[in-house]
Amino acid sequence: MASEVSRKILVTSALPYANGPIHLGHMVEAIQTDIWVRFQKLRGHTCFYVCADDAHGTPIMLRAEREGITPEALIEKFQQQHLADFKDFLIEFDEYHTTHSEENETLVREIYQQLQANGHILTKTIEQAFDPVKEMFLPDRYIKGSCPKCHTPDQYGDNCEKCGATYNPMDLINPISVVSGQKPITKSSQHYFVSLAEFAPFLADWTAPNAGHVQPEVANKLQEWQQIGLQPWDVSRDAPYFGFKIPETENKYFYVWLDAPIGYMASFKKFCAAHPEIEFGNYWSQESNTELYHFIGKDIVYFHSLFWPAVLKGSGYRTPTEICAHGFLTVDGEKMSKSRGTFIQARSYLNHLHPEYLRYYFAAKLSRGIDDIDLNLDDFVQRVNSDLVGKLVNIASRCAGFILKGFDGRLATELADAEQHQRFIDAEKEIAVAYEAREFSKAVRLIMALADSANQYINDKQPWVVAKQTGRETELQQICTQGLNFYRILAIYLTPVLPSIAARSVDFLNVPSFQWQDIQQPLLNHRINQFSPLLTRIDPTNVQAMLEETQILVEKEKQMTAANAFDPPLADEITIADFNKIDLRVAKILQAETIPEADKLLKLTVDLGAEQRQIFAGIKSAYDPEQLIGKLTVVVANLAPRKMRFGTSEGMVLAAGPGGSELWILEPDVGAQPGMRIK
Ligand code: MSP
Ligand code: ZN
Repeated sequence: MASEVSRKILVTSALPYANGPIHLGHMVEAIQTDIWVRFQKLRGHTCFYVCADDAHGTPIMLRAEREGITPEALIEKFQQQHLADFKDFLIEFDEYHTTHSEENETLVREIYQQLQANGHILTKTIEQAFDPVKEMFLPDRYIKGSCPKCHTPDQYGDNCEKCGATYNPMDLINPISVVSGQKPITKSSQHYFVSLAEFAPFLADWTAPNAGHVQPEVANKLQEWQQIGLQPWDVSRDAPYFGFKIPETENKYFYVWLDAPIGYMASFKKFCAAHPEIEFGNYWSQESNTELYHFIGKDIVYFHSLFWPAVLKGSGYRTPTEICAHGFLTVDGEKMSKSRGTFIQARSYLNHLHPEYLRYYFAAKLSRGIDDIDLNLDDFVQRVNSDLVGKLVNIASRCAGFILKGFDGRLATELADAEQHQRFIDAEKEIAVAYEAREFSKAVRLIMALADSANQYINDKQPWVVAKQTGRETELQQICTQGLNFYRILAIYLTPVLPSIAARSVDFLNVPSFQWQDIQQPLLNHRINQFSPLLTRIDPTNVQAMLEETQILVEKEKQMTAANAFDPPLADEITIADFNKIDLRVAKILQAETIPEADKLLKLTVDLGAEQRQIFAGIKSAYDPEQLIGKLTVVVANLAPRKMRFGTSEGMVLAAGPGGSELWILEPDVGAQPGMRIK
C-alpha cells in the first residue's frame, strides 16, 4: 500500500538447540516466519529477521563429553548443519548467530546487573538431586526410576508417562542417575532467582487479551498460570555447566533459558556491527518506536510471555510487540516421534524433495492460531501437484510459448480483459490483510481462486485454436499477454511463499524485481525471456525415499542410545551358597514358534539332556524362530513353573541387552552338551 507509512520491524524465530538436527517441526516455524518477513520486505518495509543456535545447557555439555569433543566443537558442527538446512529451505536470515558469543555474554551480564541493581534478584538455598560419581546436580530429566504411584519402571524424574503423576525426582523408587547409573543423593546449594512477584501487575496487563501482545487462546492459558502465582524463577546452575559464569561467583552459571532469549538481542547486535546505519538502541530501547515479533512454538510460551517481558522490563528494555505462537507439526496425524518413524529431518526431506513444495503446503495450512498442523503425505503430493504445477505454473507455460514463438517474445500493447485484470489487482487488499495477520491459508485460498479464474480465462479463449487461424495474430498476442499478466500478479502475491519460483519468474518476465506495488502497472509492449519449466510434479516415490531415509536414521539413533545407555548398578553381594541355589543348564533349542496372540514371546521346546521342556521367552523382537532352532543356550532349570495364557513356561532362557532388536541369548562354547550344569 503506497499510503502506508514505512515500518521498522525486527523478527525472530526460536533458537534451535545446538545438539540435534533441524527437523520438519522446526521448519514449520522457520517457514512461517520467513514468509511473514518476506511479505514485509516485499511491501517495502524495513524488516530484519534474526536467529541463532541455542548453545548452552546440560544436554549439550553431556553430548560433547560422550562424543569426546569440546562443547565448542559440538555447537560449531551443528551450527554449520543448521545453517545449510535453513539455507536450502530458502530461509533468509539477516543474521544467524550463536548464544555462545561475546555479544551475548556482554548483554547477559549487563541485563543481570540491571536486574540486580533494580532489586529483582534474590538468592535461596535449595535441595536438589546430585550425582555423587559425576559430581553434578541432575536436572529432573536425568534421573530415572519406578513411578512412586503406579510403580511403572523406567520413568523420568518429573512425571510418569504411564499414569501422569508428577513428583520430585527423589520420590522415584530406586532412582538412578542417567549419567552414571548411580543412585543420586540430595544436596543443597545456593541459587539465584529472578523475583517475579513484583511484575505481577505489569504482566497481568501485558498478557491481557485486549493488549494484543499474545493470541487470545494463549492469553487464557497465561491468566491461569498467573492465578496460580508467579514463583521466583531459578536462573542459576552449579558447575559443571556449559554456559556463562555469573560474575562474582565461584562456580555458578546462568541457566540456559536466561541467556537464550537475550541471544535474540545479541544476534541483532552482531548484525548492527556489520551495518553501521542501523542502530541497536532504535530497536531495543524503551523509547523505541519499532516493532518486535517473536515467532515460537506453543511449548515455550511461558518463557516468552512471562519471564522474557519481565526480564526486559526489569532491566530497562522495550518489550515485544507480539509473541506469535504456532502449533506443533504432526505427520500423517501422528506426533513427530522417533519410535513412529515420523521424525523427519530437514536434510532427509531436502535429499529427495524441492523446498518450495513444503513451503507451499505449510502456507496452505497455517493460520494465526495455535492448533497443530498435519503434514498428510498423500494430501501433500496431491495438493502441491494440483495447485502449484496444475494451476499456477500452468498459466505461464500455456501462454509463454506463443509469445516467444510468434511475437519474438514481445507482449501486446493492450490487455485483452481489463475488467478481470482489475479484479486481480483489487484482491490485493484482502490478500495483504491475510498475510499481515499470519492467516496464510486464507491468503493462499484467495490467490488460488484467482489462479482458477486465470485458467478459466485461457480455457475460454483457447489460444491453441486461435494460433492455428490466420488473421487472428493480434488476438492471440493479447490473450497470451493477458494470461502472462495474470501469472505475474499471482507470482508477486506468492513471492513470500515461493521465493525461488518468484526469482525465476522475474528472470523470465525480464523485470528488475518483484515489489508488491508492481501489480498496479500491467506489463505491456515488453520483451520477455526464454521460459523454462518453473517446477515439476512431486513423484510419490521421492516421498517414499524420504521416509526410508528417516527409518534408517531413526534406527541408527536408537542403536547409539542403546550403546550409551547405562547398565543398572550392580546387585547386592551374594554368597556361593546363594549362587548354587540357581540351577543353570545347557539346553538345545529343538523347536521355536511364534504365538499369534503374544507380540513379545516365542514358544521354545528345549532339550535338557534328561528331559524336554517348554519355555516362553520374550525374545521375539530380536530373533526369527528359524534362527534359533538347533542353537545351544543357557536356561534356569529350577525356576518355579509359571502358568501363562498360552500354557506353562518351565524355565527361563538367559539373554542380555536393552531390548527390542538389541537382545542376545547366551550361547556356550563349542563342545558343551545339553543337560550340563553351569557352575
Ligand atoms: N532452544 C529453545 C528455544 C529458545 S528461544 C530463546 C527450544 N529449542 S527447540 O530446538 O526445541 O525448538 C525450537 C523451536 O521449534 C521452538 O519454537 C519449538 O516450539 C519449535 N518446534 C520444535 N518441535 C516442533 C514441532 N514438532 N512442531 C512445530 N514446532 C516445533 O525450544
Ligand atoms: Zn505412574
